[in-house]
Amino acid sequence: MPFDPSALGLSLPVIQAPMAGVTTPELAAAVSNAGALGSLGLGGGDVEAARRQLRATRALTDGPVNANFFCHQPPRRDVARDTAWIARLAPLLARFGAAAPEQMASPYIPFQDQPGMVEMLLEERPAVVSFHFGLPPADQVAALKSAGITLIASATSVPEARIMAEGGMDGIVAQGWEAGGHRGILDPDGPDPRKPCLTLVAEIAQALPLPVIAAGGLMDAADIRAALDAGATAAQLGTAFLLCPESASDAAYRAALAQARPGSTRMQRAISGRPARSLETAFTRFTAGVDPADVPSYPLAYDIFKQLTAAAKSHDATGYAAQWAGSNAHRATARPAAQLIAEWSAALEQVEAGQGA
Ligand SMILES: Cc1cc2nc3c(=O)[nH]c(=O)nc-3n(C[C@H](O)[C@H](O)[C@H](O)COP(=O)(O)O)c2cc1C
Repeated sequence: MPFDPSALGLSLPVIQAPMAGVTTPELAAAVSNAGALGSLGLGGGDVEAARRQLRATRALTDGPVNANFFCHQPPRRDVARDTAWIARLAPLLARFGAAAPEQMASPYIPFQDQPGMVEMLLEERPAVVSFHFGLPPADQVAALKSAGITLIASATSVPEARIMAEGGMDGIVAQGWEAGGHRGILDPDGPDPRKPCLTLVAEIAQALPLPVIAAGGLMDAADIRAALDAGATAAQLGTAFLLCPESASDAAYRAALAQARPGSTRMQRAISGRPARSLETAFTRFTAGVDPADVPSYPLAYDIFKQLTAAAKSHDATGYAAQWAGSNAHRATARPAAQLIAEWSAALEQVEAGQGA
């Protein structure tokens, strides 16, 4: 069934974006209890970790929940490039007392390659399952759909949206260039149209008969309204929730967000091997001049970066962690999720009442 906020029981057509490492059962449940769709970013874990998060959320809400996964392709190893990258980061690791690894491993197993993941979802039955970086094979899609689970996936262009539609998705997350975190682009080495969110929403809504969910740089009720006016069925906001007390953002991340200014974010790929929008940090400055072709394939680069993060953290150095944020990070506010949803609902109702008068 096409993605439908009312059919899911939402009183506000808003999705709290899945954010691996940042979303928590408390955040997703607070959002769902307030009438929007709470999401869990489960792309970084295994079947049992995903099940635990889903059960912990279910214990806090009867509302709908979106479980999000990564469907990336396996990394392409390139010995010369990978060795050169390790050598490039070795002095940074050494500064924090850590040895450079001999090679990089793949920290994330894609959804489609995790035995038992689909079966776990058929048991736990989240209302929505969403995919980033691609789609699972047709038999997995069919199994989830036949259980009545609504499926959505990210696209950064009309051709990608078409692939998602043909792959059986019930809605498309139109992820604009402004979006925080990883860009869902299918081929990180191919051309990138860098479409802003509202342009992309309008293009996909015109090209395809599927509901479109706007994502990227949306921070408040006026932005949500603009997305709906551009043709979106719902809006997905990530950065707007990063400072909520229910999110898992750590103190350094929160402090950096609180200091963000317009222009404080960078689209870069040195952290993980895929383009992703982050706050400017000591690491993004260190790698600013790097040719994207020199960065190991996703998620290999993430492996050595995570080692650097841990080493730096043990020396109280805060500039070497992933601080994902959308281009409007400077507009994030530190309030409980329920307060954000209530404020957006009231503001949108006011606009609708004004239009009806
Ligand atoms: C901290 C952070 C982590 C993210 N992790 C994920 C993820 O695990 N899965 C996913 O589909 N999208 C992820 N995203 C992207 C969001 O789904 C969404 O596209 C983005 O937050 C929208 O832009 P905004 O941050 O400006 O609202 C992440 C975004 C942020 C900010």
